[in-house]
Amino acid sequence: MTSENRHIVVVGCARRIGLTLTQCFLECGYRVSGLYKTESSELSLIQKRFGDRFTAFPFDLRKPDQAAEMAQKAVRQNGSVFALIPVASQFYRTPLGQVTEASWDDLFDTNVKGHFFLTQAFLSHLERPSHIINLIDIFSFKPLRGYIAYTAAKGALLSLTRNLANELAPHTQVNAISPGPVLLPENFTEEEKSLHCSRTLLGRTGSPTDIWNAVQFLLASRYITGMNLCVDGGSSLM
Ligand SMILES: NC(=O)c1ccc[n+]([C@@H]2O[C@H](COP(=O)([O-])OP(=O)(O)OC[C@H]3O[C@@H](n4cnc5c(N)ncnc54)[C@H](OP(=O)(O)O)[C@@H]3O)[C@@H](O)[C@H]2O)c1
Repeated sequence: MTSENRHIVVVGCARRIGLTLTQCFLECGYRVSGLYKTESSELSLIQKRFGDRFTAFPFDLRKPDQAAEMAQKAVRQNGSVFALIPVASQFYRTPLGQVTEASWDDLFDTNVKGHFFLTQAFLSHLERPSHIINLIDIFSFKPLRGYIAYTAAKGALLSLTRNLANELAPHTQVNAISPGPVLLPENFTEEEKSLHCSRTLLGRTGSPTDIWNAVQFLLASRYITGMNLCVDGGSSLM
């Protein structure tokens, strides 16, 4: 994959999978606009290491009215966009019977509504050809007890991915990556961690590098759109 200094937008660049993708893109020579909610020490390290090829912008997905201004800033700084990679998400339990309107709205705002309005704001700035790769979850199409609002929001993002692929063809390919247990939440107990490992065919968790490999594969493809690539060690089959 040649980068030719192309502009990538990573939404949720400050930590975990988004941080790995940001670092990998920069190491390959891309320019990256990284959107973050809360600053991390890693962001300043990246800034020092990659200089003006990396620009960090604060952005809160719960404020979609600021999406157009956000897109303009990123494009002014780094030019038109080769790939938009919405990674950011909120993930927490909402047991059925105890779901509040506030948690429902928060999970939908951060997993689907915010991404939709940000994507819409970038549409006129996408190169031809270009890519959008949404980070979803195997639980967008498979139930997960206790997480009904999160899984419904991710299901909506999967539907959005397919609709955008249909609307934006042929110039923009829109795909999804659905991770399985790639990087478990830091607050999971050892018991929860081993439960998630045992729920994969490969018997182990993945790593953010597995997601980077999938991103590279999709960016190199010229004939895949509207697809959902599961990077899950086979857990969606169990
Ligand atoms: N990790 C896994 O094993 C796994 C499994 C299945 C699916 N996924 C999906 O893969 C993606 C990346 O996973 P991850 O584990 O790295 O994600 P994560 O740790 O849950 O969070 C990703 C990012 O979302 C940002 N974010 C949260 N609320 C936001 C808001 N209102 N506005 C802007 N940014 C916000 C966070 O920023 P702050 O920290 O600054 O709030 C964080 O940097 C997510 O879409 C996730 O659902 C991951």
